[in-house]
Amino acid sequence: MHNTTNTQDTTQAILQDKIIAIIGLGYVGLPLAIEFGKRYPTIGFDTNPLRIQELSNHTDSNHQTPSDAFAKAHLLHFSNDPASLGQANIYIIAVPTPIDTYKTPDISALLAASKMVGEVLKQGDIIIYESTTYPTCTENDCLPILQKYSKLRYNQDFFIGYSPERINPGDRKNTLTNIIKITAGSTQEAAKTINALYASIIPAGTYLAPSIKVAEAAKAIENAQRDLNIAFMNELALIFERLQIDTHEVIKAASTKWNFLHFTPGLVGGHCIGVDPYYLTHIATSLGYHPKVIAAGRYINDFMPDFIAQKMIKLLAKKHISALGAKILILGVTFKENCPDIRNSKVAQVQRALMDFGCEVYVYDPIASKEAVLKEYGFELLDPHSLQNPNQWEETQKYNALLLAVGHASFKTLKPAELLTQNSVIYDLKGFFDCKVDARL
Ligand SMILES: NC(=O)c1ccc[n+]([C@@H]2O[C@H](COP(=O)([O-])OP(=O)(O)OC[C@H]3O[C@@H](n4cnc5c(N)ncnc54)[C@H](O)[C@@H]3O)[C@@H](O)[C@H]2O)c1
Repeated sequence: MHNTTNTQDTTQAILQDKIIAIIGLGYVGLPLAIEFGKRYPTIGFDTNPLRIQELSNHTDSNHQTPSDAFAKAHLLHFSNDPASLGQANIYIIAVPTPIDTYKTPDISALLAASKMVGEVLKQGDIIIYESTTYPTCTENDCLPILQKYSKLRYNQDFFIGYSPERINPGDRKNTLTNIIKITAGSTQEAAKTINALYASIIPAGTYLAPSIKVAEAAKAIENAQRDLNIAFMNELALIFERLQIDTHEVIKAASTKWNFLHFTPGLVGGHCIGVDPYYLTHIATSLGYHPKVIAAGRYINDFMPDFIAQKMIKLLAKKHISALGAKILILGVTFKENCPDIRNSKVAQVQRALMDFGCEVYVYDPIASKEAVLKEYGFELLDPHSLQNPNQWEETQKYNALLLAVGHASFKTLKPAELLTQNSVIYDLKGFFDCKVDARL
């Protein structure tokens, strides 16, 4: 359903006097709070007091929202006091939904947020979930908590909805307001209100799904599909490595066909593509079906860090460089280019595997936070200025090998030859450098 001028009056009537609370102000919640805060009284709530402090000072440490955007959201106020939520009548929950070490969905934040909202719910309120989860989670796991803590009647006193987020961290083109947003509600009336609410801030329009389960499943398959497409490319890379064919050249040639889907091999980290398929396999398994295709994609993508480390060792051996003590420079640690997010970094896994082979590994990423990497992965990033003036370096300061793991735009200014010893290896996972390299993925 697309926004039209005819619907504007109805929308205004439906949304009059609404106060919106956004629960969880991360990559997803903050842009929502900013957009809603331009039009409606909005409470931006987060349990992390440091996050509230920085946002109140118009700073976003995720580097997604520029400081001038905060001033435009003149109706937005930040708070970490749960009591402040009592004023709202629409609650949008955007808290993390990670997996645990056994790759099982961890919905504890979703349940905690549901409890907190349940305790302040009033007659007529609507709760919309934005967090990615498995189909049925909203109605089967979250709803009972809302009912328990509010003691209100579902679909009589309060209503629920689901509207998955599709933003892509680091992507300045596909942002909240120009991506069509899927919406769904627990009754026709609630769905209409939820749809009108999002349509009022998203010029790209909305798509009203027939049920909450459909909206949940749509989000889950979008990411599972992407994971599988990349897994296919990674599998091709494993095959072509044995055939000594450059996968990037194969993809380039195949892409000249009109219906070839252009994906490239690579590390799948982050908190979405590599995580969400486990939400889908979790619910399928609980119902007695053990997904094979989705699991195979996950298996291949999770295997890539080890493959990359082993390949690097082979490349060193070919040049008679001993792995033991070889100085390896890895460029990039974040899960994707030009974005500071280090969650679920597969580069950290490559770093560990190379260390296990006895290499000295140095990781350079001027976009990632040094403190966050140390805390999460236990190693220190090189200082942001450490690759300056390599043309003045002694031979002993240089690296034996370079692994380009993430294609940050700022790496374009680096000249690999200056950073490396005479006899050295360049392994370019992304096909990023124009110079001659020893291998690409
Ligand atoms: N990051 C993305 O690009 C993206 C895209 C689509 C969907 N998603 C999904 O959206 C959800 C949120 O992701 P994110 O990337 O914004 O996470 P995030 O980690 O960046 O932010 C989540 C925020 O929620 C806060 N929080 C945690 N528990 C809370 C609670 N009980 N009450 C209130 N606040 C709480 C945290 O302090 C944090 O600031 C996840 O389900 C994710 O899978 C993310």
